[in-house]
Amino acid sequence: MLRQPTKQNIAQAATLLQNSELVAFPTETVYGLGANALSEDAVAKIYALKGRPSYNPLIVHVPSWNMAMRYAVLDARARTVAHALWPGPLTLVLPLRADSGLAANALAGLDTVAIRVPAHPVAHELLVAAGVPVAAPSANLSGRLSPTNATHVARQFEDAAPFMLAGGAAKVGIESTILDLTGHLPKILRAGAIGVDELEPLIGAVEFADGTEAIKAPGQLKRHYATNTPLRLNAVDVKAGEAFLGFGNMNFIGAENIGFARDMDTKLWRNLSPEGDLHMAAMNLYAYLDELDQSGATAIAVQSIPPVGLGIAINDRLKRAAVPKGEE
Ligand code: TXA
Ligand code: MG
Repeated sequence: MLRQPTKQNIAQAATLLQNSELVAFPTETVYGLGANALSEDAVAKIYALKGRPSYNPLIVHVPSWNMAMRYAVLDARARTVAHALWPGPLTLVLPLRADSGLAANALAGLDTVAIRVPAHPVAHELLVAAGVPVAAPSANLSGRLSPTNATHVARQFEDAAPFMLAGGAAKVGIESTILDLTGHLPKILRAGAIGVDELEPLIGAVEFADGTEAIKAPGQLKRHYATNTPLRLNAVDVKAGEAFLGFGNMNFIGAENIGFARDMDTKLWRNLSPEGDLHMAAMNLYAYLDELDQSGATAIAVQSIPPVGLGIAINDRLKRAAVPKGEE
């Protein structure tokens, strides 16, 4: 059952977290499925409920960067970035403090920790009230679309649903940028709303993980963020039986047997942003994919999205979602 984020419900959720129970909660990126990151038992429940492989570590959520310093070592670079961009849609991978006390299964045995201070007021209140670090992946079954609104969360776990706090539609809509600060050069492991244009003025050159080295963010390379319905990317037309996800001007997109995509049944197409606004597109991405996934179409044709700014992150998610089933 979904609860409104009243003081009382947030207090109850905080108590559940302290008692090693799971709580789903809103963040500005996507909804999270949280557990006390100090408790192996609590964290084990996340992996079990999501069907998540145990080698894929979790992000630890804290309400302030003061609290982050209890678990991670923040060098000058990390402090600069944290000061400028936390709270916000940015996760930092940092050296783990020897005395962190974090559950080994939250870290998948690594000696680094991914840590984030979310900006959503409900997430913030919950983290303050809980007083413990909260390990939280996105609140979806492993490999599936991340939920960006409360009803999408409510549909995920059916009978096994944990205590769930509602908090409106996520404003960012795609998962946080993951920035690895454990090496010589800062490296983006996962693209998100915070891009190089914001990072480089703060800490100098930032590189993108290119996928050729050992996987630093496991779970980043395979089929992920996926619909049940296959995706066909960079579509310039719509074939019979397909649904269509547009971006910007879709007036010229033809639809087999119908004429134009815009004349298709309204349940068969969406436009991420008719104005071509990438922030709007990111915010709508998972909700629209989810709706088209339920339309009964044989495939979802997706119009191309420029690979600049937030478009980099959107294309990253679409590419992973388009990896055919069985090739994960
Ligand atoms: O926006 C978000 O980050 C959301 C909300 C709920 O905060 N969370 C989220 O978590 O996207 P999840 O579990 O779906 O993705 C976590 C990613 C995984 O790709 C994992 O491999 C990576 O973070 N990760 C975790 N710890 C890591 C570490 N020590 N080094 C490298 N990557 C790490
Ligand atoms: Mg996820």
